[in-house]
Amino acid sequence: MDNFSHDVLIIGGGGAGLRAAIAVAEINPKLNVAVISKVYPMRSHTVSAEGGAAAVIKPDDSLDHHAYDTISGGDWLCDQDAVEAFVNEAPKEMLQLEHWGCPWSRQDDGTIAVRPFGGMKIERTWFASDKTGFHMLHTLYQTSLKYDPIQRYDEWFVTKLIVDDGRCQGAVAIELATGQVQAIAAKSVVICTGGCGKVFPFTTNANIKTGDGMALAYRAGVPLKDMEFIQYHPTGLPFTGILITEATRAEGGYMLNKDGYRYLQDYDLGTPQTEPVLRSMELGPRDRLSQAFVKEMEKGNTLEGLYGQFVHLDIRHLGEKKINAKLPFVRELCLKYENIDPVNEMIPVRPVVHYMMGGIHTDINGATPLPGLYAAGETACVSINGANRLGSNSLTELLVFGARVGSVAAEFASNQSDYTFDMAYESITEENHIKNQFFKEKKNQERIADIRKEMHKTMEEGCGIYRTENSLLASQNILTDLKERFSHVAIDDHSRTFNTELVAALELSNLLDLAESIVQSALSRKESRGSHQRTDYEKRDDENYLAHSLAYQEKDNKPRIEYLPVTITKWPPGERVYGR
Ligand code: FUM
Repeated sequence: MDNFSHDVLIIGGGGAGLRAAIAVAEINPKLNVAVISKVYPMRSHTVSAEGGAAAVIKPDDSLDHHAYDTISGGDWLCDQDAVEAFVNEAPKEMLQLEHWGCPWSRQDDGTIAVRPFGGMKIERTWFASDKTGFHMLHTLYQTSLKYDPIQRYDEWFVTKLIVDDGRCQGAVAIELATGQVQAIAAKSVVICTGGCGKVFPFTTNANIKTGDGMALAYRAGVPLKDMEFIQYHPTGLPFTGILITEATRAEGGYMLNKDGYRYLQDYDLGTPQTEPVLRSMELGPRDRLSQAFVKEMEKGNTLEGLYGQFVHLDIRHLGEKKINAKLPFVRELCLKYENIDPVNEMIPVRPVVHYMMGGIHTDINGATPLPGLYAAGETACVSINGANRLGSNSLTELLVFGARVGSVAAEFASNQSDYTFDMAYESITEENHIKNQFFKEKKNQERIADIRKEMHKTMEEGCGIYRTENSLLASQNILTDLKERFSHVAIDDHSRTFNTELVAALELSNLLDLAESIVQSALSRKESRGSHQRTDYEKRDDENYLAHSLAYQEKDNKPRIEYLPVTITKWPPGERVYGR
C-alpha cells in the first residue's frame, strides 16, 4: 500500500468494521475506505461468537417487546432512543445478511429458526448452528470483497490517533510484517476494535481483545462511558475461559451444584417462581446467574478444581442427536479443551468475563464528541446494553450500528477538504516515541508478564462480580503502582519483523489505562445495578445514578468521572422481571 490517505479509515476488521466498510462503499462508491486491523479480518473475535443474534421475527413478538427486554435486562441504564433504533433496524439487517449468504438455521418448513436466550421473554435469537459469529463474519468478509473501494491493511497495529485542527484526521500504525511506522490520513476515522476482556484473567475473549481502540480514543480526549459494567458469562470453561454458549441452556441444559441440585431455583433471577421456572431459570440474565455462582461458592456448594471453583452444566439429557444437530461446536470444544464428551459427561463451568457494556462514548449514530471520530460494536457505548447486555444482542448491534456509523462517517468525509498535518512528521515522532519507550535499557527493568499478571489478579479480586469501596481502593493503588512499574518495561526483541513482544507491551499499556478507568468508574458509582454490584451499596439508586459515567483521561493520565443522564422515552424505571 503506497498511498496512505483515505476518505474513511476503519480501525478493526471484525463484524462492526466490515459492516461499516460495506455501508461506506454502498452509500458513496467514490469514497476510498480502508480497514486496518492487527489481525487478518477472519481472525477477529466476532468469529468466536456462538449462540446467535436477536431480532424480532415471530408473529407473537414486537419491537416494543424486544426493546423492553433489552431495557429491563440493562437495569434501566440503556438509552431508550438508541434501543428503539436498534430493535427497529435489527430485522432488516438480519435479512440483509441472509441475502448476502449467511446460512441461518431453519425450521423444517424452511422458515428461520429462533431459540430462546437469557432475559428475552420471546424467542428471537437467530442462529447458524452454534457457530453464528463465524458464519456472520464470513458473510461480511466475502461481501466486503465485492467492493473495490475497500482497501485493507491486514496485520497493522494502530498506536495513535492523529488529532489536528480540532478533528480526527487519521492514525499512526506499525506494519507488523516490516516494523515500518506510518501515518495514515483519513477524513473520518471509525473505531471498531472490540472490547477489553483481557484486563481480567478469566475471559471468553481472545488474546487480541486488549481494548486498543478504547485506549486510542481515551488518550485523544474522548470519554469512556459506563466502564464499570463488566459482563461475566456464567458458563466459561475453567482455566481457558472458552465460551460454552448460552444456547446449551436455551436447548434445555441444567446448571448443577456439587450435589447435582439445580441451585438457580434458590435465587431471585427475576423469573417467576412458578412451575415454568424449572424450565427457564437457566435462562435468567447473565449478571444474576454469575452472582448466584458466587453465593453458591460462599455456601460451599461448588466444586474445587485445578483452576478454582466450578459448577456443572449438564446437557446429557438432550441426547447425542440433538447435541450434534444444535450444539456441535460445544461438543467439539469440550472434547478438545476438557477431554470430556458432553453427551456422557457434565461440563465444568465458571463465570468468566465476556463483554464490556461500556466503551467509547458515542451518540445514537456512533459519533464521538471528537469531530471526525466514530465508533461501533463492543468498543463503543451507544448505549443499548446499559448495566447488563442480553445475550445475542451484540451480534445484531454490530450490524445495526456498523451500518449506521458507516453512513455518518461517509457523510462527514464527503464534506471535508484536505488534511492539515504532516504525515512524515507524525510517523517519525511516533517511531521515536515507541523506541524511547521500550527499546532502551532501563534501571530496575520490569517484565511485561509480571505486570500483566498482577493487573489480572487485582482486577479479579477488587473489581470482579462483587466490589466494595475497600476492594476498589486497593485495586486503584495497585494499578497506580503497576503503571509506574510499566515505565520500566524494556523489551529484549528489537527486531522489526512481527515483533510480538512490542505488540504485547503496547497492548499492556492500553489495558492498564482501561483498568484504571474501570476501577475509577466503579468507585464513583455508589449503588448496585446490573453487573455492577457494590456490597457496600446494595440497592439501585435511580435518584443519583440513573446516569452514565464518563471517564476522561486527565493530564496526569488519571481518570476523572462525570455523569450524563440516561435517555428515557417510553419505559420509566421499574423492576427487572423475566419469564412469560
Ligand atoms: O452464550 C453465547 O452464545 C453468547 C452470546 C452473546 O454474548 O451474545
